[in-house]
Amino acid sequence: MQESRSELQIKPLGWWVRSHHCNELTLENEGQNVCLMGWVQYRRDHGGLIFIDLRDRHGLTQVVFTPDASAQALEEAHGLRSEYVMALKGVVRNRPKDMINPNLKTGEIEVEVTEFRLLNRSKTPPFIIEDRVDVAESLRLKYRYLDLRRPAIANNLVFRSQAVQNIRNFLHENDFVEIETPILTKSTPEGARDFLVPSRPNQGQFYALPQSPQLFKQLLMCSGFDRYYQVVKCFRDEDLRADRQPEFTQVDLEMSFVDEEGVMSMAEGLIADLFKNVSGQELETPFTRISYAQAIADYGLDKPDIRFDLKLKDVTHLVNGSDFRLFAEAELVKAMAVPGGSVLSRKEIDDFTDFVKVYGAKGLAWIKIKEDEWQSPIAKFLSQEERTALTAELELQVGDIVFFQAGAADMVNTALGYLRVKLGERFDLIPQDVFAPLWVTDFPLFEWDEEEKRWVARHHPFTSPKDGHFELMQTSPGQALARAYDLVLNGNEVGGGSIRIHNSDDQEKMFSVLGIDENEAKSKFGFLLQALEYGAPPHGGLAFGLDRLIMLMTKSSSIRDVIAFPKTQKASCVMTEAPSEVSLKQLRELGLKHREKPKEG
Ligand code: AMO
Ligand code: AMP
Repeated sequence: MQESRSELQIKPLGWWVRSHHCNELTLENEGQNVCLMGWVQYRRDHGGLIFIDLRDRHGLTQVVFTPDASAQALEEAHGLRSEYVMALKGVVRNRPKDMINPNLKTGEIEVEVTEFRLLNRSKTPPFIIEDRVDVAESLRLKYRYLDLRRPAIANNLVFRSQAVQNIRNFLHENDFVEIETPILTKSTPEGARDFLVPSRPNQGQFYALPQSPQLFKQLLMCSGFDRYYQVVKCFRDEDLRADRQPEFTQVDLEMSFVDEEGVMSMAEGLIADLFKNVSGQELETPFTRISYAQAIADYGLDKPDIRFDLKLKDVTHLVNGSDFRLFAEAELVKAMAVPGGSVLSRKEIDDFTDFVKVYGAKGLAWIKIKEDEWQSPIAKFLSQEERTALTAELELQVGDIVFFQAGAADMVNTALGYLRVKLGERFDLIPQDVFAPLWVTDFPLFEWDEEEKRWVARHHPFTSPKDGHFELMQTSPGQALARAYDLVLNGNEVGGGSIRIHNSDDQEKMFSVLGIDENEAKSKFGFLLQALEYGAPPHGGLAFGLDRLIMLMTKSSSIRDVIAFPKTQKASCVMTEAPSEVSLKQLRELGLKHREKPKEG
């Protein structure tokens, strides 16, 4: 019935001008004539009255159609539906006491409509436009433009915009120059696979999308721009996770005539200023610092979450004579005692065991410290001396649980490191409103690539060894340390950088340790080596992962929630359906040919 009288005509906006947005009007505006525009969130028919919550990206305002204000508008309002776009004129009035909504900024007023225009209709959206939607992320991403109408996601983008504005202000005040660098360029080795772009005029040749502007920012230092920055897209073809996208944004900076202190204190200043101005949160500076070696020793990971104080202990020396062969023979045995942890059920322990297997562990040994016994599958192997030594070293108390991991050092540290975070969550040890930034310094310069059987740069090949480690780099690469630093925030790596090599001889030495011979170095990085020969100043810098920073600041669980149009775990966009096939004609123009698709299985 209602449908038949609701043939509302769409009207042009005409000369109507919006006077306020939907999160603006308060009692102070009472009696004013206003003009609002937005989307219909809800329509409620109350017999002779119709209420609508009008939404724009700022918020909601309740508008009411009454016979007194306009019988015609009231009649026509029956035709309004969710997500219809409308403009209205009306008068601000205070709401009756029992209708005040204390949760809305506009909750004390409503606008009584004298006239309105339907600007556009909407199909019924595939999900309700509100924060509490419980729909598959793939559906949200397919209709991302609707998803972005939801206040939570929209607010993340507004927050991000404010954050970037603040960062730009800070850097400009500190004399940084914003300079754009090419997107169609040559590969920069940041450790991931490149995205390649075929060149039409140069058939058979490819550009690489930059994994970062690393080389260009170093060249800008050679040009004398002593403080550079850029808010810049970077592209890396790597396996995706909640905190990784194939294209992501860095706040990238580089400075000349500085050492580690110079870069780190500038970066700290930027982060502290950002948190203060945009989140109203004071961060204490200077930030805590620990060495990479200490981070691994205490937390098992190079990105420790220091909001809670659960530490790993190396107990290899206490159990290397054990009857438990696994412990006796292991390269490393580490333990983590969790106060009160003996309440864990068998099922929970089994789940934690499965969890550490993802990191290469074969199992997870545990002991519950009970009043009168050590309850554990491995207790029978432990002698009285071992128990006494472990009790002292781990300061064991009745009610604790101890987890052990034994085996190759990397596996032991990684498995227990991530288990530590899991246990922190399980026992509510992690304060949610705290931001605990941490510098991790003194990284190893290289790591051994088992597959390629060679040393690879842990950061990138332009990172300078620590003073005195140039020799070491050539004799025992595994022991050389880098002038590199990472900024870690609540267990997430949010930034990283280093002091660079600024002389071409040293840079060539670095390439030779990496097994990059002179010819390869020339063809890949000849332009950098050359630039370093023309009076390159000492320089260093850092890049923040902007998406991760904003994810943490907005307490989002994935960087996808702070990116307008993110990709799925499979690196595709379900909305535009990119990547997609191209025509044979396009391929022919590029001089490319498809290989036959490998058969399944
Ligand atoms: P790095 O490779 O450490 O350093 O990158 C800097 C920061 O970028 C973020 N990040 C990512 N964020 C989202 N998705 C990804 N796939 C992704 N990869 C990295 C991280 C990381 O800390 N040129 C150097 C910087 C320098 O030396 O100045 C560089 O790119 O938060
Ligand atoms: P098993 O002798 O294989 O039955 O293992 C005895 C206990 O040690 C079980 O609780 C296993 O989960 C645990 N375990 C197995 N491998 C490891 C390991 N690498 N580190 C620590 N505990 C382990």
